Amino acid sequence: MEKDESVIKNYNLFDDKTLDNTIRPESIDEYIGQTDVKENIKVFVEAAKMRKESLDHVLLYGPPGLGKTTLAFIIAHELGTNIKTASGPSIEKTGDLAAILSSLEPGDVLFIDEIHRMPRYIEEILYPAMEDFSLDIIVGSEGNSRNIKIDLPPFTLVGATTRAGDISAPLRDRFGIVNKLQFYTVDELTDIVRRTSRVLDMPIDDEAAVELAMRSRGTPRIANRLFKRVRDFAMVKKKDTIDLQTTKEALKRLQVDEMGLDNTDRELLLAIINKFNGGPVGIEALSSSIGEEVTTIEDVYEPYLLQVGLLKRTARGRVVTDKAYELLGIEKR
Ligand SMILES: Nc1ncnc2c1ncn2[C@@H]1O[C@H](COP(=O)(O)OP(=O)(O)O)[C@@H](O)[C@H]1O
Ligand SMILES: [Mg+2]
Repeated sequence: MEKDESVIKNYNLFDDKTLDNTIRPESIDEYIGQTDVKENIKVFVEAAKMRKESLDHVLLYGPPGLGKTTLAFIIAHELGTNIKTASGPSIEKTGDLAAILSSLEPGDVLFIDEIHRMPRYIEEILYPAMEDFSLDIIVGSEGNSRNIKIDLPPFTLVGATTRAGDISAPLRDRFGIVNKLQFYTVDELTDIVRRTSRVLDMPIDDEAAVELAMRSRGTPRIANRLFKRVRDFAMVKKKDTIDLQTTKEALKRLQVDEMGLDNTDRELLLAIINKFNGGPVGIEALSSSIGEEVTTIEDVYEPYLLQVGLLKRTARGRVVTDKAYELLGIEKR
């Protein structure tokens, strides 16, 4: 069991982000699911390579953990180019963006994560950069300033966002390829769990893999996180394969239910039922009632609850469905 011990030791040294990176598929054929998006991207990448041009700018949107960052890296990999990364909130000055843009080499991918969080005046630098590959900046101080125009090499901007609605129209219009990532099916997530099991060299039974997949809220990142937790339980129990029983026990301890809902999901549904009589309730009131940010509710929790039909959005606010009452075992009044 020496090898396993070293894995546990290492495990503590890494945060989830680093583990994300070790598990992340590198090529488009390893990327499971999202068939439509994948097929489109394959065609556009192929065509760009044939024309020896840069790929059109790509916007990827959808809830966290569905594979936006992964796909950005895969696009660069398939194009055979380098990728430079930045994130909306980290670009604070126009100079920050200008510096990134002028460091690009021909054909490079520039990945901007959380692109909806970039301030508008910085965003405006992107318009000519995306359209004409030119950088228009003002240099010098007040009274003595002038506009200069710098040619940029052709590049591909890949933007990712959890909130497509927060992207300004002029920015959105400059993306030639816009793709929405969908929640994954249980079959796809089972494949993802199996792949992770191979990469991390920890075997898992078929039925355990399916169980994990069913409880992953349609989200690869969650499937991988749960896999890692369940692996810990299996290792402590000195099992060399993750089986169904261990999986169920671990998930119970992690308080992940049959549908993959966690404590916050249940708290959210229960708050609407108990404090707002099932709804409708406005997002602000719900947010202060459960102590979660509005954006966290909207971006992280709600999309899945809506998808599986436990929650509904109406003009007057959020409403829980009969299915939610049933799941929580509460009589509807
Ligand atoms: N289609 C996929 N196939 C296999 N693994 C995936 C896929 N999409 C995401 N993952 C896994 O889920 C993790 C989270 O994906 P990520 O790209 O970081 O999501 P996002 O950027 O949308 O929040 C990645 O580390 C990767 O291992
Ligand atoms: Mg990401």
